[in-house]
Amino acid sequence: MFWNRFFRPKRAAPDLTPDLERRIRQSFDEAAGDAEHFPDTIDERILHVRMLLDWIAPAPAGRFLDAGCGKGRFAAVVRKHYPDASVHGLDLSVEMLRYVQPGIGRCAGSLTALPYRDGAFDAAWATESLEHAVDIERAVAELCRVVKPGGRVLIIDKNAEQFGRLDTPEWEQWFDRRALEGLLRRHCHEVESKPLSYWEDVEPDGLFFVWLAVK
Ligand SMILES: C[S@@+](CC[C@H](N)C(=O)[O-])C[C@H]1O[C@@H](n2cnc3c(N)ncnc32)[C@H](O)[C@@H]1O
Repeated sequence: MFWNRFFRPKRAAPDLTPDLERRIRQSFDEAAGDAEHFPDTIDERILHVRMLLDWIAPAPAGRFLDAGCGKGRFAAVVRKHYPDASVHGLDLSVEMLRYVQPGIGRCAGSLTALPYRDGAFDAAWATESLEHAVDIERAVAELCRVVKPGGRVLIIDKNAEQFGRLDTPEWEQWFDRRALEGLLRRHCHEVESKPLSYWEDVEPDGLFFVWLAVK
């Protein structure tokens, strides 16, 4: 049936138990020393970065959250381009957070229980971190909760249709474009998504989407 095909998850979501969360944290703590796969900088010409800089441009002196920031490479570029902004990075892995640049707020915590008040940020983003959050509904609700009315959410993550193209740990989930739009629409009134390439002169190959939402 069309409906089942549309919503069929590419991988059944496991329960987010304390043991699974501990294993995810440990896996990223161990991976933090791997500079090749987890770099602490990113080329500013990459469209993922430019998309983010453009999306948050309406609040250049705003308060921003990089949720699942890893080593804070997106947060660092945002801080460079918007020096009057207050940029905060949250990650499950303390070892990843050690690489976050001075001047950026650092917080150990989970996307599924953000330790911030409602409406604390002008914008929040999650770049390739939602795929590890396991309880996706809750993580999306949290991202939207901590953004103020009129504030902006950006998610860059992978396309469920391409699942299997890369090796993934057992908890990782990729996303159906329309299903994730639907989750964002529960909390935000303007939602859109589009395929995303790394480079301006290269057509998107279907691996990444960007989801953009205004609360
Ligand atoms: C692939 S890395 C991406 C890091 C960063 N967003 C970037 O693009 O450079 C995924 C990150 O998500 C973090 N992560 C995984 N599960 C998380 C959770 N439940 N809450 C917060 N961070 C989480 C990992 O520790 C890791 O740093």
